[in-house]
Amino acid sequence: MTILVTGSTGIGGAVAAALRGRGLDVLTVGRAGDVRADLSLLADTARAAAAVPGPLDAIVCCAGGLSTVAEPTAEGLDRAMVLNHLSRHMLVGRLLPRLAPAGRIVLVANAGKYRDTLDLSRLGEPVGRGLAVSGRTQFANDLLAVALAARTPHAVSCVFPGLVATGVFRDARGVPGAVRSVAAAVQRRFGADPAVAAATPARLATDASLPGGFYGPGCRRLRVPARVSAARADALWAASEQLIGRAAG
Ligand SMILES: NC(=O)c1ccc[n+]([C@@H]2O[C@H](COP(=O)([O-])OP(=O)(O)OC[C@H]3O[C@@H](n4cnc5c(N)ncnc54)[C@H](OP(=O)(O)O)[C@@H]3O)[C@@H](O)[C@H]2O)c1
Repeated sequence: MTILVTGSTGIGGAVAAALRGRGLDVLTVGRAGDVRADLSLLADTARAAAAVPGPLDAIVCCAGGLSTVAEPTAEGLDRAMVLNHLSRHMLVGRLLPRLAPAGRIVLVANAGKYRDTLDLSRLGEPVGRGLAVSGRTQFANDLLAVALAARTPHAVSCVFPGLVATGVFRDARGVPGAVRSVAAAVQRRFGADPAVAAATPARLATDASLPGGFYGPGCRRLRVPARVSAARADALWAASEQLIGRAAG
């Protein structure tokens, strides 16, 4: 069994370690991954997708980050939207032909926790500030899971890992250093061990008895909110395809 995991540190690193501990083949994609890539850039994401060798049995997307500022990348797109959503859409889309028919897809994000603050007419634009900058990317993952489930034969899951003691608050962009330090201390004190949090995405990637859907810590099924509709998922899919197509030239 070969499983691709995005993000080689944080929850992604823990998922990779858990799967490797079970004797499975794991390939990580990230700035420090087996395949090196800056997933905030679509050109680098495309290059990484082409560099992934062989057939896959599962794809687990963990790479992501927290940001309260809209920032343009060298490609002119919003950094958080590319890293947290568009690169996942692109990478998974390009790897679908290599995913086994019974292959599984897991998106680690915030399953069902965010309101719909997406403006599809300005999807890639670095606009706005505050929690909506990341929040809209997390809602986009909810919709991506629904869109992938509708378009493929695969079990697709979206996971809310709970508060996990990783570097996500320490490295948050746009947040003052003092606030980051306090948030990171709280995260270290109260967050779950990444190895514990990794158990849910690792199981969803490998346990064929589990259906796709939204999941929380301990592999608990979560209700999919009504706002995560098929129509909204289709609309995001179309807008993302258009942006990715334009970026790919
Ligand atoms: N931790 C929590 O409490 C929590 C709660 C809810 C949701 N989440 C979600 O869980 C996911 C993982 O979070 P985490 O806690 O593991 O975060 P983290 O500790 O900050 O790690 C960030 C992850 O993203 C990857 N990454 C960051 N920037 C990248 C870039 N430019 N290119 C490629 N990879 C990049 C890193 O891999 P490399 O080091 O290889 O680049 C690493 O795996 C995120 O989507 C986050 O929204 C986390």
